[in-house]
Amino acid sequence: MSLSQLARSIKESPTLKLNETAAILREKGEPVIHLGGGEPKSKAPIDAVVNCATQLNTGDIKYAPADGLPALKKAVIRYTEEHYNKLVGPDNIVCSSGAKQSIMNALYAILDPKDEVIFPAPYWVSYPEMVKLAGGVPIIVTPEDGTFHPTIKEIAEMIGSYTKAVIINSPNNPCGVMYSRDFIAELVQLCEKKSIYLIMDDLYNRLVFDGKTAPNCFEFVTDQTDRSKLILVQGVSKMYAMTGFRIGWAVTNPELAEAMGNIQSHQTSGPATPSQWAAVGALNGVQSSIESLKLTLENNRNVMVERLQSFDGVKVTKPDGTFYCFPDFSAYMKESQKLAQFLLEKVRVVTVPGKEFGMEGHLRLSFCGTIKDTMDALERMKWALDPNSPNELYLAERRLVRDWL
Ligand SMILES: Cc1ncc(COP(=O)(O)O)c(C=O)c1O
Repeated sequence: MSLSQLARSIKESPTLKLNETAAILREKGEPVIHLGGGEPKSKAPIDAVVNCATQLNTGDIKYAPADGLPALKKAVIRYTEEHYNKLVGPDNIVCSSGAKQSIMNALYAILDPKDEVIFPAPYWVSYPEMVKLAGGVPIIVTPEDGTFHPTIKEIAEMIGSYTKAVIINSPNNPCGVMYSRDFIAELVQLCEKKSIYLIMDDLYNRLVFDGKTAPNCFEFVTDQTDRSKLILVQGVSKMYAMTGFRIGWAVTNPELAEAMGNIQSHQTSGPATPSQWAAVGALNGVQSSIESLKLTLENNRNVMVERLQSFDGVKVTKPDGTFYCFPDFSAYMKESQKLAQFLLEKVRVVTVPGKEFGMEGHLRLSFCGTIKDTMDALERMKWALDPNSPNELYLAERRLVRDWL
């Protein structure tokens, strides 16, 4: 079969693949614990479900404007004013099938072949592939000091004549680190000065712990005109636990928003209307689910970090937000893919290799599951990795015997 060069250059999403692997093993009755997941366990807010069901009950589900239902745009306008203190209009907004499509639309709309897009490591797995899909070249900045926080100097040094955009995801998937207010302020100014786009992927910005709040990128914008090259990406997937509804949006200047809407109109004709109504329900409804999700996640994070700190040699950075932790396991095994495979084979724990996020030696562990799963998984991992562990471990009825290390 002959496939295009593009198709051959794109890798499968490793996180979605892991979901599949976990589901297959579970079906076979294996006692799998999935720490590779990227979605909260909680249910969608009731206002989202009711709003969606009300629309479905009419049976009248038709095409909507390609860039989003007016009702959803109105809800996004209100959300942007309330949470970003930024007044925008319908012309600034494109609603899409998930934040993933919003980012993809933006890249299609701004990149010419060989244009470069800069983002720090560790990065969300999809960024390199998305940049390549849009014909661009991913440029990765790895913080030299061994932390997860790049400096402005490190970003600035990578900006060249082909640079079109910087993507920032804070708090960050996979490491949970939230970049500092000063960093975001300086980055907004740097991108303005260099006249390049800044894509702020704020998908996790409400899921921040320890009483902290995420910096608001709009606060630092000096170019208040319609030419501003800031692109804010948001969505309902994570904060409202609505991953399956597939609704995200971008807020940007009207010219770019129009271009992104045009691109989308030829790809999907816009997101599914029942999902858009669900998002309207979530955005306009009772907001308490976000706070309770945050509290649950914060508690899970504390448990995970505490347990990980008891592993000899594992280096843990306490996540500021999200539902991911990205410990350094290189003291046990340098190659993260091998380590993830080992943990899956020996103790049936699914993790995501750090290599997929541009950092070897680490594993991404999600703490969005139940506290029991988190504790059990870490106990299994410790048993598998610590040479001083007892010889046996019981997983429900199953007796595991150590035949390694
Ligand atoms: C950093 C980041 N951006 C974007 C997305 C895409 O989100 P959505 O489900 O809204 O497409 C994800 C999902 O995992 C993510 O982690």
